[in-house]
Amino acid sequence: MSDNIRPETMARITTPELAKAFIDEQVAEIRAQVGNKKVLLALSGGVDSSVVAALLIKAIGKQLVCVHVNHGLMRKGESEQVIEVFGKELDANLIYVDATDRFLNLLAGVSEPEKKRKIIGGEFIKVFDEEASKLEGISFLAQGTIYPDILESDGVKAHHNVGGLPEDMQFELVEPVKLLYKDEVRVVGDALGLPHAMVYRQPFPGPGLGVRCLGAITRDRLHALREADAILREEFDKNGLAGKVWQYFIAVPDMKSVGVKDGKRYEGWPAIIRAVNTTDAMSATIEEIPYALLHRITDRITHEVDGINRVLLDLTPKPIGTIEWE
Ligand code: XMP
Repeated sequence: MSDNIRPETMARITTPELAKAFIDEQVAEIRAQVGNKKVLLALSGGVDSSVVAALLIKAIGKQLVCVHVNHGLMRKGESEQVIEVFGKELDANLIYVDATDRFLNLLAGVSEPEKKRKIIGGEFIKVFDEEASKLEGISFLAQGTIYPDILESDGVKAHHNVGGLPEDMQFELVEPVKLLYKDEVRVVGDALGLPHAMVYRQPFPGPGLGVRCLGAITRDRLHALREADAILREEFDKNGLAGKVWQYFIAVPDMKSVGVKDGKRYEGWPAIIRAVNTTDAMSATIEEIPYALLHRITDRITHEVDGINRVLLDLTPKPIGTIEWE
Protein backbone atom coordinates (compact mmCIF):
# COMPACT_ATOMS: atom_id res chain seq x y z
CA MET A 1 0.00 0.00 0.00
CA SER A 2 1.42 3.34 -1.00
CA ASP A 3 0.54 5.08 2.28
CA ASN A 4 2.70 2.48 3.97
CA ILE A 5 5.82 3.72 2.23
CA ARG A 6 7.90 6.41 3.85
CA PRO A 7 8.43 9.25 1.35
CA GLU A 8 12.08 9.92 0.58
CA THR A 9 11.51 13.58 1.34
CA MET A 10 10.42 12.88 4.91
CA ALA A 11 13.04 14.30 7.29
CA ARG A 12 14.27 12.14 10.13
CA ILE A 13 12.71 13.43 13.35
CA THR A 14 15.68 14.23 15.56
CA THR A 15 14.78 17.45 17.38
CA PRO A 16 11.93 18.67 19.60
CA GLU A 17 10.97 21.15 16.85
CA LEU A 18 10.61 18.42 14.23
CA ALA A 19 8.72 16.31 16.76
CA LYS A 20 6.34 19.16 17.48
CA ALA A 21 5.64 19.66 13.78
CA PHE A 22 4.95 15.93 13.43
CA ILE A 23 2.65 15.97 16.45
CA ASP A 24 0.64 18.95 15.12
CA GLU A 25 0.28 17.29 11.75
CA GLN A 26 -0.81 13.96 13.25
CA VAL A 27 -3.27 15.58 15.65
CA ALA A 28 -4.97 17.25 12.67
CA GLU A 29 -4.95 14.01 10.67
CA ILE A 30 -6.32 11.93 13.53
CA ARG A 31 -9.13 14.43 14.10
CA ALA A 32 -9.98 14.38 10.40
CA GLN A 33 -9.95 10.58 10.28
CA VAL A 34 -11.84 9.90 13.50
CA GLY A 35 -14.32 12.76 13.68
CA ASN A 36 -16.45 12.29 16.80
CA LYS A 37 -16.16 8.50 16.83
CA LYS A 38 -14.42 6.30 19.40
CA VAL A 39 -11.01 4.60 19.13
CA LEU A 40 -9.80 1.53 21.00
CA LEU A 41 -6.14 0.91 21.88
CA ALA A 42 -4.37 -1.98 23.60
CA LEU A 43 -1.93 -0.10 25.80
CA SER A 44 0.90 -2.36 26.91
CA GLY A 45 3.07 0.38 28.37
CA GLY A 46 5.73 -0.21 25.72
CA VAL A 47 7.22 2.74 23.85
CA ASP A 48 5.12 2.47 20.69
CA SER A 49 1.68 1.99 22.22
CA SER A 50 2.41 4.66 24.85
CA VAL A 51 3.35 7.24 22.24
CA VAL A 52 0.29 6.40 20.17
CA ALA A 53 -1.89 6.74 23.28
CA ALA A 54 -0.39 10.14 24.15
CA LEU A 55 -0.86 11.37 20.57
CA LEU A 56 -4.48 10.24 20.48
CA ILE A 57 -5.23 11.71 23.88
CA LYS A 58 -3.90 15.02 22.59
CA ALA A 59 -6.00 14.74 19.45
CA ILE A 60 -9.31 13.32 20.68
CA GLY A 61 -9.13 13.09 24.49
CA LYS A 62 -11.80 10.82 25.93
CA GLN A 63 -12.84 9.46 22.53
CA LEU A 64 -9.85 7.17 22.99
CA VAL A 65 -10.43 4.09 25.12
CA CYS A 66 -7.22 2.45 26.32
CA VAL A 67 -7.24 -1.10 27.60
CA HIS A 68 -4.27 -2.21 29.66
CA VAL A 69 -4.18 -5.94 30.28
CA ASN A 70 -1.87 -6.94 33.10
CA HIS A 71 -1.03 -10.56 32.32
CA GLY A 72 0.87 -10.93 35.57
CA LEU A 73 4.14 -11.18 33.65
CA MET A 74 5.02 -7.49 33.65
CA ARG A 75 8.19 -6.20 35.22
CA LYS A 76 7.97 -4.61 38.64
CA GLY A 77 6.06 -1.32 38.60
CA GLU A 78 5.10 -1.36 34.92
CA SER A 79 1.33 -1.66 35.19
CA GLU A 80 1.39 0.84 38.03
CA GLN A 81 3.21 3.30 35.77
CA VAL A 82 0.61 2.89 33.01
CA ILE A 83 -2.15 3.67 35.52
CA GLU A 84 -0.22 6.61 36.97
CA VAL A 85 0.75 8.21 33.66
CA PHE A 86 -2.31 7.54 31.53
CA GLY A 87 -5.08 7.10 34.10
CA LYS A 88 -4.02 9.90 36.43
CA GLU A 89 -1.64 12.40 34.80
CA LEU A 90 -3.14 12.36 31.31
CA ASP A 91 -6.66 11.64 32.59
CA ALA A 92 -7.23 9.07 29.84
CA ASN A 93 -10.20 6.80 29.44
CA LEU A 94 -8.29 3.79 30.75
CA ILE A 95 -9.65 0.34 31.42
CA TYR A 96 -7.27 -1.66 33.60
CA VAL A 97 -7.70 -5.40 33.64
CA ASP A 98 -5.74 -7.41 36.16
CA ALA A 99 -5.85 -10.82 34.52
CA THR A 100 -2.91 -12.22 36.51
CA ASP A 101 -4.84 -15.16 37.94
CA ARG A 102 -6.26 -16.17 34.56
CA PHE A 103 -2.81 -16.30 32.99
CA LEU A 104 -1.00 -17.94 35.88
CA ASN A 105 -3.72 -20.57 36.33
CA LEU A 106 -3.53 -21.47 32.64
CA LEU A 107 0.26 -21.59 32.75
CA ALA A 108 0.46 -23.77 35.86
CA GLY A 109 2.46 -26.92 35.13
CA VAL A 110 3.26 -25.90 31.53
CA SER A 111 7.00 -26.08 30.92
CA GLU A 112 7.32 -26.17 27.14
CA PRO A 113 8.37 -22.70 25.88
CA GLU A 114 6.28 -22.63 22.70
CA LYS A 115 3.22 -23.82 24.59
CA LYS A 116 3.73 -21.09 27.19
CA ARG A 117 3.97 -18.45 24.46
CA LYS A 118 0.82 -19.73 22.77
CA ILE A 119 -1.13 -19.70 26.02
CA ILE A 120 0.00 -16.15 26.83
CA GLY A 121 -0.71 -14.83 23.31
CA GLY A 122 -4.06 -16.61 23.04
CA GLU A 123 -5.28 -15.53 26.46
CA PHE A 124 -4.20 -11.95 25.81
CA ILE A 125 -6.40 -11.80 22.73
CA LYS A 126 -9.26 -13.37 24.67
CA VAL A 127 -9.08 -10.86 27.50
CA PHE A 128 -8.76 -7.93 25.10
CA ASP A 129 -11.68 -9.21 23.00
CA GLU A 130 -13.84 -9.60 26.09
CA GLU A 131 -13.17 -6.00 27.07
CA ALA A 132 -13.72 -4.77 23.52
CA SER A 133 -17.09 -6.52 23.27
CA LYS A 134 -18.28 -4.78 26.44
CA LEU A 135 -17.76 -1.40 24.78
CA GLU A 136 -20.24 0.25 22.51
CA GLY A 137 -19.74 2.52 19.55
CA ILE A 138 -16.08 1.80 18.85
CA SER A 139 -15.24 2.45 15.19
CA PHE A 140 -11.46 2.50 15.14
CA LEU A 141 -8.58 0.45 16.45
CA ALA A 142 -5.31 2.27 17.12
CA GLN A 143 -2.04 0.38 16.83
CA GLY A 144 1.56 1.19 17.65
CA THR A 145 2.82 -0.09 14.31
CA ILE A 146 6.21 1.47 13.47
CA TYR A 147 8.10 1.52 10.17
CA PRO A 148 10.36 -1.49 10.88
CA ASP A 149 7.20 -3.53 11.53
CA ILE A 150 6.04 -2.68 8.01
CA LEU A 151 9.46 -3.35 6.51
CA GLU A 152 9.99 -6.60 8.36
CA SER A 153 6.59 -8.17 8.16
CA ASP A 154 3.40 -8.06 6.23
CA GLY A 155 2.42 -4.79 7.82
CA VAL A 156 1.02 -6.31 10.96
CA LYS A 157 2.85 -5.29 14.09
CA ALA A 158 5.57 -7.90 14.57
CA HIS A 159 5.14 -9.84 17.81
CA HIS A 160 1.97 -7.87 18.41
CA ASN A 161 -0.12 -9.68 20.92
CA VAL A 162 -3.38 -8.25 19.78
CA GLY A 163 -4.00 -10.17 16.61
CA GLY A 164 -7.60 -11.14 16.77
CA LEU A 165 -10.68 -9.17 17.52
CA PRO A 166 -14.22 -10.47 17.46
CA GLU A 167 -15.06 -11.19 13.84
CA ASP A 168 -18.28 -9.24 13.91
CA MET A 169 -16.38 -6.10 14.86
CA GLN A 170 -15.14 -4.07 11.97
CA PHE A 171 -12.52 -1.57 12.93
CA GLU A 172 -10.67 0.87 10.78
CA LEU A 173 -7.01 1.21 11.82
CA VAL A 174 -5.40 4.36 13.23
CA GLU A 175 -1.62 4.05 13.05
CA PRO A 176 -0.10 7.50 13.54
CA VAL A 177 3.54 6.40 13.96
CA LYS A 178 3.65 3.77 11.23
CA LEU A 179 6.20 5.68 9.15
CA LEU A 180 8.56 6.35 12.06
CA TYR A 181 11.69 4.57 13.15
CA LYS A 182 12.10 3.71 16.83
CA ASP A 183 14.46 6.63 17.56
CA GLU A 184 11.90 9.03 16.08
CA VAL A 185 9.08 7.52 18.13
CA ARG A 186 11.21 8.25 21.20
CA VAL A 187 11.82 11.89 20.20
CA VAL A 188 8.07 12.29 19.68
CA GLY A 189 7.35 10.62 23.05
CA ASP A 190 9.73 13.05 24.74
CA ALA A 191 8.03 16.00 23.04
CA LEU A 192 4.66 14.71 24.22
CA GLY A 193 5.97 14.84 27.79
CA LEU A 194 5.96 11.11 28.53
CA PRO A 195 8.29 10.01 31.36
CA HIS A 196 11.87 9.24 30.35
CA ALA A 197 11.67 5.69 31.72
CA MET A 198 8.70 4.98 29.46
CA VAL A 199 10.17 6.58 26.33
CA TYR A 200 13.57 4.93 26.71
CA ARG A 201 12.28 1.60 27.93
CA GLN A 202 14.38 -1.31 26.71
CA PRO A 203 12.73 -3.89 24.46
CA PHE A 204 10.52 -6.26 26.42
CA PRO A 205 9.01 -9.39 24.86
CA GLY A 206 5.24 -9.60 24.58
CA PRO A 207 5.11 -12.74 26.77
CA GLY A 208 7.01 -10.73 29.37
CA LEU A 209 8.63 -12.44 32.30
CA GLY A 210 6.99 -15.65 31.06
CA VAL A 211 10.02 -16.29 28.82
CA ARG A 212 12.42 -15.59 31.71
CA CYS A 213 10.77 -17.68 34.40
CA LEU A 214 12.04 -20.86 32.79
CA GLY A 215 10.07 -24.09 32.78
CA ALA A 216 6.70 -24.23 34.51
CA ILE A 217 5.99 -20.85 36.08
CA THR A 218 5.22 -20.75 39.78
CA ARG A 219 4.11 -17.64 41.62
CA ASP A 220 6.96 -17.71 44.11
CA ARG A 221 9.67 -18.09 41.45
CA LEU A 222 8.01 -15.44 39.28
CA HIS A 223 8.01 -13.10 42.27
CA ALA A 224 11.71 -13.78 42.92
CA LEU A 225 12.49 -13.11 39.24
CA ARG A 226 10.57 -9.82 39.26
CA GLU A 227 12.32 -8.60 42.41
CA ALA A 228 15.79 -9.63 41.18
CA ASP A 229 15.14 -7.95 37.82
CA ALA A 230 14.09 -4.75 39.60
CA ILE A 231 17.37 -4.74 41.53
CA LEU A 232 19.38 -5.26 38.33
CA ARG A 233 17.54 -2.38 36.65
CA GLU A 234 17.98 -0.12 39.66
CA GLU A 235 21.72 -0.79 39.80
CA PHE A 236 22.14 -0.29 36.05
CA ASP A 237 20.25 2.99 36.39
CA LYS A 238 22.39 4.20 39.27
CA ASN A 239 25.64 3.23 37.57
CA GLY A 240 25.03 4.76 34.16
CA LEU A 241 24.50 1.49 32.31
CA ALA A 242 20.77 1.86 31.72
CA GLY A 243 21.15 4.22 28.79
CA LYS A 244 24.14 2.35 27.41
CA VAL A 245 23.18 -1.32 27.37
CA TRP A 246 20.61 -2.42 24.80
CA GLN A 247 18.86 -5.10 26.85
CA TYR A 248 19.49 -6.51 30.31
CA PHE A 249 17.46 -8.78 32.49
CA ILE A 250 17.37 -11.71 34.86
CA ALA A 251 16.30 -15.23 34.00
CA VAL A 252 15.49 -17.76 36.73
CA PRO A 253 15.67 -21.45 35.82
CA ASP A 254 13.56 -24.14 37.43
CA MET A 255 16.34 -25.69 39.49
CA LYS A 256 17.66 -25.31 42.97
CA SER A 257 21.04 -25.65 44.57
CA VAL A 258 22.18 -25.75 48.15
CA GLY A 259 23.41 -22.67 49.96
CA VAL A 260 23.85 -21.39 53.48
CA LYS A 261 21.90 -18.55 55.05
CA ASP A 262 22.02 -17.52 58.71
CA GLY A 263 24.02 -20.64 59.47
CA LYS A 264 21.38 -22.91 57.97
CA ARG A 265 21.10 -24.91 54.76
CA TYR A 266 19.24 -22.76 52.22
CA GLU A 267 17.99 -24.16 48.96
CA GLY A 268 17.35 -21.57 46.31
CA TRP A 269 17.20 -20.76 42.61
CA PRO A 270 20.02 -19.07 40.73
CA ALA A 271 19.39 -15.66 39.15
CA ILE A 272 21.11 -15.39 35.77
CA ILE A 273 22.20 -11.94 34.59
CA ARG A 274 22.04 -11.30 30.83
CA ALA A 275 23.18 -7.92 29.44
CA VAL A 276 23.62 -7.59 25.69
CA ASN A 277 24.27 -5.02 23.01
CA THR A 278 22.96 -5.22 19.49
CA THR A 279 21.49 -3.06 16.77
CA ASP A 280 18.95 -5.43 15.28
CA ALA A 281 18.66 -8.29 17.82
CA MET A 282 19.84 -10.72 15.12
CA SER A 283 23.26 -10.94 16.74
CA ALA A 284 24.41 -9.61 20.09
CA THR A 285 27.57 -9.04 22.09
CA ILE A 286 28.07 -9.11 25.84
CA GLU A 287 28.29 -5.94 27.90
CA GLU A 288 31.37 -5.93 30.15
CA ILE A 289 29.85 -5.10 33.51
CA PRO A 290 32.44 -3.87 36.03
CA TYR A 291 33.23 -6.54 38.62
CA ALA A 292 32.55 -4.23 41.55
CA LEU A 293 29.03 -3.69 40.24
CA LEU A 294 28.53 -7.42 39.68
CA HIS A 295 29.50 -8.03 43.30
CA ARG A 296 27.07 -5.38 44.48
CA ILE A 297 24.21 -6.79 42.39
CA THR A 298 24.99 -10.31 43.64
CA ASP A 299 25.05 -9.13 47.22
CA ARG A 300 21.74 -7.30 46.91
CA ILE A 301 19.89 -10.05 45.04
CA THR A 302 21.05 -12.85 47.34
CA HIS A 303 20.20 -10.85 50.46
CA GLU A 304 17.03 -9.07 49.36
CA VAL A 305 15.23 -11.65 47.25
CA ASP A 306 13.57 -14.61 48.91
CA GLY A 307 14.36 -17.87 47.19
CA ILE A 308 17.51 -16.81 45.32
CA ASN A 309 20.79 -18.13 46.64
CA ARG A 310 23.20 -17.64 43.73
CA VAL A 311 23.79 -15.10 40.98
CA LEU A 312 25.31 -16.18 37.64
CA LEU A 313 26.47 -14.17 34.63
CA ASP A 314 25.71 -15.28 31.09
CA LEU A 315 28.70 -14.54 28.86
CA THR A 316 27.29 -16.11 25.71
CA PRO A 317 26.98 -13.90 22.62
CA LYS A 318 24.25 -14.38 20.00
CA PRO A 319 24.89 -16.56 18.13
CA ILE A 320 25.22 -19.05 19.76
CA GLY A 321 22.87 -18.13 22.57
CA THR A 322 19.62 -16.36 21.77
CA ILE A 323 19.00 -13.20 23.76
CA GLU A 324 16.15 -14.70 25.76
CA TRP A 325 16.54 -17.99 27.56
CA GLU A 326 12.88 -19.00 27.13
P1 XMP B 1 15.99 -13.82 20.84
O1 XMP B 1 15.74 -14.49 22.16
O2 XMP B 1 15.24 -14.47 19.72
O3 XMP B 1 15.37 -12.36 21.01
O4 XMP B 1 17.44 -13.64 20.54
C1 XMP B 1 15.56 -11.31 20.09
C2 XMP B 1 14.78 -10.11 20.60
O5 XMP B 1 13.37 -10.33 20.51
C3 XMP B 1 12.77 -10.23 21.78
N1 XMP B 1 11.77 -11.28 21.87
C4 XMP B 1 10.44 -11.10 21.79
N2 XMP B 1 9.74 -9.97 21.64
N3 XMP B 1 7.74 -11.24 21.70
C5 XMP B 1 8.38 -10.05 21.61
O6 XMP B 1 7.70 -9.01 21.51
C6 XMP B 1 8.39 -12.42 21.84
O7 XMP B 1 7.79 -13.48 21.92
C7 XMP B 1 9.83 -12.33 21.88
N4 XMP B 1 10.79 -13.26 22.02
C8 XMP B 1 11.98 -12.59 21.99
C9 XMP B 1 13.90 -10.42 22.78
O8 XMP B 1 13.59 -9.81 24.02
C10 XMP B 1 15.04 -9.77 22.06
O9 XMP B 1 15.01 -8.36 22.21
